[in-house]
Amino acid sequence: MTVPLITHAKEVIPGGVNSAIRVSPGSDRFVITGSSGPYVSTDTGRTILDFQSAYGATVLGHNDPDVDRAVAETARRLDNPGYGVTDAEVTLADMIIDRVASIEKVLLVNTGSEATYLAIRVARSVTGRPKILKFEGAYHGWHDSVLVNTGTPASRLGTTYLPSTGVLPGAVADTLVATWNDLDDVEAQLARHEGQVAAILVDPILSSAGGILPQPGFLEGLRRIATAHGALLVFDELITGFRVAVGGYQSLVGVDPDLTTFGKAIGNGYPIAGIGGTAAVMDEFSNVPGGTVYMGGTYNGHPAMAAAAIAVLEKMDREPVHAQLDRLGARLRAGLQELYTSHGIDATVTGIGSVWFPFLLEGEVHDYRDSLRHDRDLLVRIRSGLLEDHDILVTPVNWKSGKLNYSHTEVHVDRLLAATDAVLTEVSR
Ligand SMILES: Cc1ncc(COP(=O)(O)O)c(C=O)c1O
Repeated sequence: MTVPLITHAKEVIPGGVNSAIRVSPGSDRFVITGSSGPYVSTDTGRTILDFQSAYGATVLGHNDPDVDRAVAETARRLDNPGYGVTDAEVTLADMIIDRVASIEKVLLVNTGSEATYLAIRVARSVTGRPKILKFEGAYHGWHDSVLVNTGTPASRLGTTYLPSTGVLPGAVADTLVATWNDLDDVEAQLARHEGQVAAILVDPILSSAGGILPQPGFLEGLRRIATAHGALLVFDELITGFRVAVGGYQSLVGVDPDLTTFGKAIGNGYPIAGIGGTAAVMDEFSNVPGGTVYMGGTYNGHPAMAAAAIAVLEKMDREPVHAQLDRLGARLRAGLQELYTSHGIDATVTGIGSVWFPFLLEGEVHDYRDSLRHDRDLLVRIRSGLLEDHDILVTPVNWKSGKLNYSHTEVHVDRLLAATDAVLTEVSR
């Protein structure tokens, strides 16, 4: 008898998956073999309604026909010459600059981790300073400087915590960690390390802790503090960019960061990401004669990936993508809040636009410490119930927010609500 493919996967791939974030309850039961619109299908014959949307990447839905067509047509015409620049890259750069107010020049890479890595490198170069400041619980990719205090357990709050071994101690020492929504803490840390901090790195909605929105004035305050202390402000819009609005979260609050990192939604699942910012900072990259900040990458700006991004942005221009995402997101958040209340479970359903997360706790959530009070075991049980009994995927991992995409309709949202109702009845027995 041949072993199931999922069993074999573990023999040839560590843990059977290609990203630590993909290990979750139920993920070791099948191999995914197809995707279309709001669904993924498995080698075991299941069709699963997907509300994970590839951790935010598939903003239009799986295999969006316009995006796939653009990729196929470009790939047939042009692969990856790896010399000079291609027409698709220039077109895309123009489109990004037109849409994101703070971006005057843009560089393309493949992943968000590369983008945040380069943002830090260029910030260090421009300021001549070694340190960065990030927020407790924030994820900005897998590289050394930013892994510090990501997913900090309660017992380690207030100390330096690393979710990985093998990280350079120097990178850890140069990463400061501040409390989300606490401008006094940020101000105090910059003052304590005066002249040492190159950049404040911020995901505007602290996505990796479920998604904790900034309090009014918080991002504006970061802008003021960064400027006052001569540090760059970097918005890591990997989740929010092109998803909460075509101009990113920065367009909602009217704050111009010095640098923006983006990826995920702009490629609708294809690997493309980037870093953009003021011309003065971006011209420090050594692509420009005299620039000193090295960046490379065989696949940067791959024409077929750039074509995917162009098709995404064109569709956002043509169709009411964000209006639909916002409408369905509001319906879903309100529906979930009502369900938790009616089942007598303390919950605050948070989020913005197409992004949502139910904090299962009493009261409000302002910072990472608050998010640790939430009942993560119950969340995993609820989401495992959705997957096992209802073929609905909202990854059963704590703090992972759900993401709607443009292929979702009222019918899908209502199916999730009805299934949640059934699961909550089951778990509160
Ligand atoms: C806010 C944020 N920054 C950076 C990253 C890293 O992006 P990538 O997984 O493309 O390297 C992520 C990924 O989830 C993210 O959510």
